[in-house]
Amino acid sequence: MATILILYYSRTGNTEEMAKAVEEGVRSEGVKAVRKRVNRATLKDLLKADGIILGSPTYYGTMAAEMKAFLDRSVQYHGKLEGKVGAAFSSCGGLGGGVETTVLDMAKALLIHGMVIQGDPWGSHYGTVSIGKPNAAAKKECKKLGEKVARLVKQLRAS
Ligand SMILES: Cc1cc2nc3c(=O)[nH]c(=O)nc-3n(C[C@H](O)[C@H](O)[C@H](O)COP(=O)(O)O)c2cc1C
Repeated sequence: MATILILYYSRTGNTEEMAKAVEEGVRSEGVKAVRKRVNRATLKDLLKADGIILGSPTYYGTMAAEMKAFLDRSVQYHGKLEGKVGAAFSSCGGLGGGVETTVLDMAKALLIHGMVIQGDPWGSHYGTVSIGKPNAAAKKECKKLGEKVARLVKQLRAS
């Protein structure tokens, strides 16, 4: 069965709520979802997953240090994550606060690992975003992210 790892950091719970909605989307596609806070995850979790979705609050226009530190340690598996599907989501404090640069920074790290990132022509183009606590619309977008990544994982596994 395909597995998608939802790896996130959250201090005050907003990104965690987004992670739960992403998880719901993954599960709705019949794909196994493993949701882990970054401090509970091991690098081996990356190897085991067919898809990896990263979530972080926006801190000074980029991801939280905890997520960056984990990604820096992932150099241990450089080249081994190639072809897996990736995506990112972030919660921020306000409009123009750097949330797009945050999701792009996480997506860039996954691209450097050789992963495949699907954009979104209609919703959040680079990755799902929320201002503060996710409202119903933001949760719907998070669920959609989970569904899209799960569908792409299934397509790639079938080919
Ligand atoms: C250290 C720190 C830096 C932050 N920097 C930004 C920022 O640059 N832009 C922004 O929009 N919000 C910023 N925020 C606000 C958080 O992104 C926002 O509160 C977010 O929803 C927190 O997510 P969490 O509940 O998952 O921890 C910052 C918060 C903290 C604590």
